[in-house]
Amino acid sequence: MTTRSLLILPGDGIGPEVMAEVRKVIDWLGAKRDLAFEVSEDLVGGCAYDKHGTPLHDDTMAKAQEVDAVLLGAVGGPKYDDLDFSVKPERGLLRLRKEMDLFANLRPAQCFDALADFSSLKRDVVSGLDIMIVRELTSGVYFGEPRGIFEEGNERVGINTQRYTESEIDRVARAAFDLAMKRGKKLCSMEKANVMESGILWREVVTRVGADYPEVELSHMYADAGAMQLTRWPKQFDVIVTDNLFGDLLSDLAAMLTGSLGMLPSASLGAPMENGRPKALYEPVHGSAPDIAGQGKANPIACILSFAMALRYSFDLGEEAARVEGAVEAVLAKGLRTADLLGEEGVSPVSTAEMGDAVIAELDASL
Ligand code: IPM
Ligand code: MG
Repeated sequence: MTTRSLLILPGDGIGPEVMAEVRKVIDWLGAKRDLAFEVSEDLVGGCAYDKHGTPLHDDTMAKAQEVDAVLLGAVGGPKYDDLDFSVKPERGLLRLRKEMDLFANLRPAQCFDALADFSSLKRDVVSGLDIMIVRELTSGVYFGEPRGIFEEGNERVGINTQRYTESEIDRVARAAFDLAMKRGKKLCSMEKANVMESGILWREVVTRVGADYPEVELSHMYADAGAMQLTRWPKQFDVIVTDNLFGDLLSDLAAMLTGSLGMLPSASLGAPMENGRPKALYEPVHGSAPDIAGQGKANPIACILSFAMALRYSFDLGEEAARVEGAVEAVLAKGLRTADLLGEEGVSPVSTAEMGDAVIAELDASL
């Protein structure tokens, strides 16, 4: 029998609430589709710090290395703002990404038709939008050395280093080309080759990898121009590949095009494990939203869609992933809205749990 192991790390803020709705989907797949998952749960972020004095306990790290997929809610909150940098909740997430070597971060930005009017851009510009940003996740300025705050003469200097090796660029480029082959066969690579040597190397390596993918139409853009083009006419893009920091910015920008950060999932993938499945962590793009935590107001859709990505990329269950995505689309088409999606007249918000239950009802209806 195939085993499918999942480590769930709900984290802080709204993380536990949205994860509870994902649990419903996992249970549904077990009960109605005969797809069992071995689920374990643990702490990450502020809650891990509260219990262990570290945002990610070594035992949790070890478990994450063993399972087929990790599903994370969100980390952080104002309570932890004054903690030392080394134990801030975010460090737990960054450690997972780094030690699991999750170099390819997939961030789809898809506009649900029912929500096109929530975008800050005109409906016409975003309706039908379906792009994928592939962000390099384990290198670049996030991790480059030297880094730190140092004394220099009579003042301090803050230093971070943008650093990319050819092999780091090569592997994320391949991940992006592979995705482009399964989608619209268009890839745009973004860097700042006009001002950064790392950008020059990036462009050179991506071009070289492109020779192995003659069917994919490759283009290059400076990342600032890319940001401008993403707001001008986002539908010109299919897959975008970019570095860690530009990817952080551009994926937030792309997310907002779709109307709500509360809707977008992500997958972070590494090299294949012994069983052929890639090392993988799935998480919503949104944060821990401490201002609404514990009130049942959070939108569970990004987290549910992150689990759908796990079905597709870790468990080879693309059809079930599409079923979950279809259920979400159906719920939105029926007009159900969590508080982050209000604005239409006469619509009152549903709670986090009501949204989850509605998705389950649509799953039932799909059988
Ligand atoms: C993201 C977040 C993280 C990042 C933070 C929470 C460390 O903004 O996943 O985009 O900067 O990578
Ligand atoms: Mg970010």
